[in-house]
Amino acid sequence: MPGHKGSGPLGCEALDITEIAGADSLYEDSGILRESEQNAAQLFGARDTFYSAEGSSLCIRAMVYLALLRRPERPWILAARNAHRVFLQTCMLLGADIAWLFDESEAFSLCRTMVSPEHLAQVLSQHIAYPPAAVYVTSPDYLGNENDVAALAAVAHRFGVPLLVDNAHGAYLKFLSGSRHPMDCGADLCCDSAHKTLPVLTGGACLHVGKMAPPEFSAAGKRAMALFGSTSPSYLILASLDAGNGRLSSDWPEKLAGWVTLLSRARKEIAAMGWNVLRSDPLKLTIEPGSRGWRGTELAEQLRKAGIECEYADPDDTVMMLTPNNRPEDLEQILLCLSKIPSRAPLTRPDLYLPPPEVAMPPRDCLMVPSERIPAAESEGRILASATVSCPPAVPAVVCGERISREAVQIFRYYGTEDVLVVKE
Ligand SMILES: Cc1ncc(COP(=O)(O)O)c(C=O)c1O
Repeated sequence: MPGHKGSGPLGCEALDITEIAGADSLYEDSGILRESEQNAAQLFGARDTFYSAEGSSLCIRAMVYLALLRRPERPWILAARNAHRVFLQTCMLLGADIAWLFDESEAFSLCRTMVSPEHLAQVLSQHIAYPPAAVYVTSPDYLGNENDVAALAAVAHRFGVPLLVDNAHGAYLKFLSGSRHPMDCGADLCCDSAHKTLPVLTGGACLHVGKMAPPEFSAAGKRAMALFGSTSPSYLILASLDAGNGRLSSDWPEKLAGWVTLLSRARKEIAAMGWNVLRSDPLKLTIEPGSRGWRGTELAEQLRKAGIECEYADPDDTVMMLTPNNRPEDLEQILLCLSKIPSRAPLTRPDLYLPPPEVAMPPRDCLMVPSERIPAAESEGRILASATVSCPPAVPAVVCGERISREAVQIFRYYGTEDVLVVKE
């Protein structure tokens, strides 16, 4: 193996090896892969780093498992609501309950859940007798909102609870002139989709264990990754993670600093054209184009016609992600295109609101119940059986086991969800 024997139409086949002598074996590593992971741990300021050739998705599964290992009886996790669907699916598979932290502002946003340290402290203080196995937050989110991870870590630790961070979008935060990476903010575990913002092939990701994290996270980290990972991880992706370490140790941080300056200047120029540019993490360009009469998805379409592919768009927002591997001309092209798009009558944003959801069934019970697909418009009162959300952003508005409210149906309509899988009655 592999069947292509090192040659083929892609040109990369020669690098696509398997566990041959000298190549080490990811889940029993003691050679070059172990050494490369140790290099990554040093680079990211982690006690341990475990490679994933299956994205942050694999790391999230491992994070949840590790948290539950320390509290296997009646486990529950306190999680910010904008969690990626993999988090939810893993809790279902492992039988963990979830209590949600909702965004503290009234207005509904699918992607954003800002959690203040005060709110976290207040919720944790209600559960002193039986605290959660972990607090779980996503930061940065798909729009580029960042939670105050350092403050949240301090609160979680005050209550003796580890903090897990979905940092899929923020691997590069380590290389800013002042690091904002979760490992430097006191998180116990975090996942980085290296492939999203670093010069790494798609699928390359890392699970990092914080220097002050419970020792079991290091001891069982590899086992946790092996539990969910393929026994044939891609060496092409692993080699790319290793090569990425080399580039991150050379002039990449300097290039990043240059791009952060370029992007912050570009944001000002775009705002001066009349576009509403949202505050975001430094590598995202998030525009809320409603004030100029465009829906986020329509603006993305205009940009696409000019050869610019956005990362994400929904009715309200258009998100572009740039990295030091873009060319300065790419940014020029974005500015030129935005300058040519005419202004139209402003759009009003509907007042979407999601009332505290009624949990009609524990999410884990939804895995095996008979279900049926029905039009979302007719789903009020039914129990959601599966989080039917595509990626991006893969953040479900309603979580399985919850009864679908009238307000949730409005949210489905607004985000273009046509049908949903509900529990059969
Ligand atoms: C916030 C967030 N978490 C996790 C993931 C999963 O990451 P990956 O695609 O690396 O498996 C994504 C993917 O888009 C994401 O946006």
